[in-house]
Amino acid sequence: MSKNEAWGSRVGLILAMAGNAVGLGNFLRFPVQAINNGGGAFIIPYIVCFLLMGIPLLWIEWSTGRFGGKKGHHSTPFILNSIDPKRRFWKYFGVFGIFTNIAVAAYYCFIESWTMSYVMHSIAGTFRNMNQIEVAQFFERYVDVMKSTTGIPYEAVLFFVICIVLNTFILSKGIKGVEKAAKIGMPMLILFGVLLAIRGLTLGDSGATPDNPNVSAIDGLNFLWTPQFESLWDFKVWLAAAGQIFFTLSLGMGSIQCYASYVKSRDDIALNAASAGFMNEFVEVVLGSSIVIPIAAGYLGIDWVIENAGFGMAFQTMPYLFNNWGPVLAAVAGVMWFGLLFFAGITSSLAMGTPWMGFMRDEFGWSQKKGAWSFGGIVLILGLPTVLFFNQGVFDEYDYWAGTVSLVVFALAESILFAWVFGMGKGWLEINEGGDIRVPGIYKYIIKYITPVMLIIVFLGALLTPVGNDWTGAFSGLVAGDGWTLDNSSIIKTISHAGIHEQIAASTDVLVIEGLKDKIFYTNMARLILVALFVFISFLVYTAYKKRLKTHNL
Ligand code: PHE
Repeated sequence: MSKNEAWGSRVGLILAMAGNAVGLGNFLRFPVQAINNGGGAFIIPYIVCFLLMGIPLLWIEWSTGRFGGKKGHHSTPFILNSIDPKRRFWKYFGVFGIFTNIAVAAYYCFIESWTMSYVMHSIAGTFRNMNQIEVAQFFERYVDVMKSTTGIPYEAVLFFVICIVLNTFILSKGIKGVEKAAKIGMPMLILFGVLLAIRGLTLGDSGATPDNPNVSAIDGLNFLWTPQFESLWDFKVWLAAAGQIFFTLSLGMGSIQCYASYVKSRDDIALNAASAGFMNEFVEVVLGSSIVIPIAAGYLGIDWVIENAGFGMAFQTMPYLFNNWGPVLAAVAGVMWFGLLFFAGITSSLAMGTPWMGFMRDEFGWSQKKGAWSFGGIVLILGLPTVLFFNQGVFDEYDYWAGTVSLVVFALAESILFAWVFGMGKGWLEINEGGDIRVPGIYKYIIKYITPVMLIIVFLGALLTPVGNDWTGAFSGLVAGDGWTLDNSSIIKTISHAGIHEQIAASTDVLVIEGLKDKIFYTNMARLILVALFVFISFLVYTAYKKRLKTHNL
């Protein structure tokens, strides 16, 4: 990315930022999170997290990005450094803002590549005569790369490589390429999304059959949209809601700061940030919940949906459900659905490439092409283990550490840096500078006190999740002097694979034990890769810092 590159137009900027945020998370992750956390029980914590953490962090990230951009920085190590130049450690916190993007891209591009393949299979009519079980099995065969029985040898690897090459090609055109992709992808996504949502919302109980008389799309909608106030006391739901808000808005990742660093110094961010954020929420809450859930509930019933909520639902079930609409419409719906996912995915994965490119350009003078192809190469190397060992849990391991834990850690650090080190006085001016709206004054206090405190609570909650996720029980136990027993899902216990060790101890089946031991091996390997990546980027930051010291360019 060249140093004086900038967005071509305001529409382009908003679409690119919205494209960054609107992603697979909106269509694949949100419905699953909502269902697993009780439907209507999820929505209130979700909205509160949006207002008290999502929006404030958007303003923080946009304004720190623009601030760093003025000084010629386009990635978080030196953006954070420019906010508090006295302390050296911020730039190493900033490593997260490159690391996370690359690590997430490594598994994200894999899902993105499924969507390309599924568009092709929808057109080719592969799913036409398949029943529900066959469609589900098709997916299992697809991700079981080595056996590859989908008709195309090594299909998953092939599409993964094509997907990375396509991303790299667009990235090699720099910010302009990203902007163009968003200008095409976002309108297509909205069009496909609206058409499918209309179908989902108008399905009613037309999907009922003599065998399955009690199914209705409305049940799916009611389940999601009937608020349940008791959930306000359920900490687990809050954690899930906060995690979703982070992921869907691309917060705590560094890609927003990177995009914002290409905003001209006096251009509005107050309104733009809010617009892009609300656009993401429209797509997530309105479109994201009007497609998979009502359509699945309309044919299979809400109980089925609750039982089968999972990430494969979109791939393992939708093509079969579309078959109800006759062969032609099924193909059209398949192209729209997987095409929508593809556009959602690519406008996000492009965003993940830009911090690395910006960094290498700023610090080592790399051209856009060199930046883009090196990004593609790294993502390919890091991504292949997720492709080849998908069933051994490498994918999930990347998602947990890079796509979940890192976001919270980084967001916490940057919100403290912004509100307490930079200071809310200066910070407030930064947010409002050039603004087309005035941010409501109450946000000054929210950003200073509420956002960081909520982040600390979320982080501690994930770190110290008590056994069974039973917070009320855990606190009364603590008061009664019984201590605090950690759940296997807590970050601390996850580190030592406590859950898997317990399963091993409980099992007598040699094959199961073998499988679990394999899982430990592969997840350890995944961790090693992630640590190596982090160390590698830190080393680059250190080298860049030494270079800057020499030329007094700090
Ligand atoms: N927000 C994107 C989604 O919802 C994911 C993403 C993460 C995009 C990080 C860019 C950077 O899918």
